[in-house]
Amino acid sequence: MPLGKLIFHFFLLATIVVTKTHSWGAVGHAFVARIAMTFLTDSSKTFIKDILPWYVYGNMSMLASWPDNILYPDTNPVGYLNWDWSKPLHYVNTPDYVCQYVPSRDCVEDNCIDGAIQNYTKRLANTALDHVQRQEALQFLVHYVGDIHQPLHSGFTSDRGGNSVRGDDPES
Ligand SMILES: *[C@@H]1O[C@H](CO)[C@@H](O)[C@H](O)[C@H]1NC(C)=O
Ligand SMILES: *[C@@H]1O[C@H](CO)[C@@H](O)[C@H](O)[C@H]1NC(C)=O
Ligand SMILES: [Zn+2]
Repeated sequence: MPLGKLIFHFFLLATIVVTKTHSWGAVGHAFVARIAMTFLTDSSKTFIKDILPWYVYGNMSMLASWPDNILYPDTNPVGYLNWDWSKPLHYVNTPDYVCQYVPSRDCVEDNCIDGAIQNYTKRLANTALDHVQRQEALQFLVHYVGDIHQPLHSGFTSDRGGNSVRGDDPES
């Protein structure tokens, strides 16, 4: 499929799968990871395969929604409270109608998606960390790169990541 057509389908799909609670949704996140995988070199593919759990055979799509799934009692009944700290890492907000992102104001102590992408990029590359930590870093990274490209996930505080914006016809 030509790239233009692929990207068009991607946006079409992304628009359909955006839901209220789960950002892109599982299909959208899998799709973002799948597109990313088409750009990997052979050595990057091997690197990723070695980092991810063996049972996904290097397929990043299969774990692309993990950072969402760990947050909620329906997908992680026992452990979901342990991951509460990671909720602010899925988005970044600027004050309403302020279009300039200022990290010192909007991402205090790197506690936002921009900080998370930097943190997990560094941790993924840090060979001093153990395998579990680097595996977690890659899974967070794949997901947050998807989230940061989601329309309105870098938005105004009162939008709630776009959740307060109606995309449908208000008359209907
Ligand atoms: C990777 O996983 C996704 C989601 O489970 C699946 O749709 C896709 O076919 C898989 N790709 C490969 C190359 O196995
Ligand atoms: C970086 O990631 C680690 C491991 O998940 C986490 O404990 C730490 O709080 C993160 N730091 C920042 C600044 O996000
Ligand atoms: Zn998310």
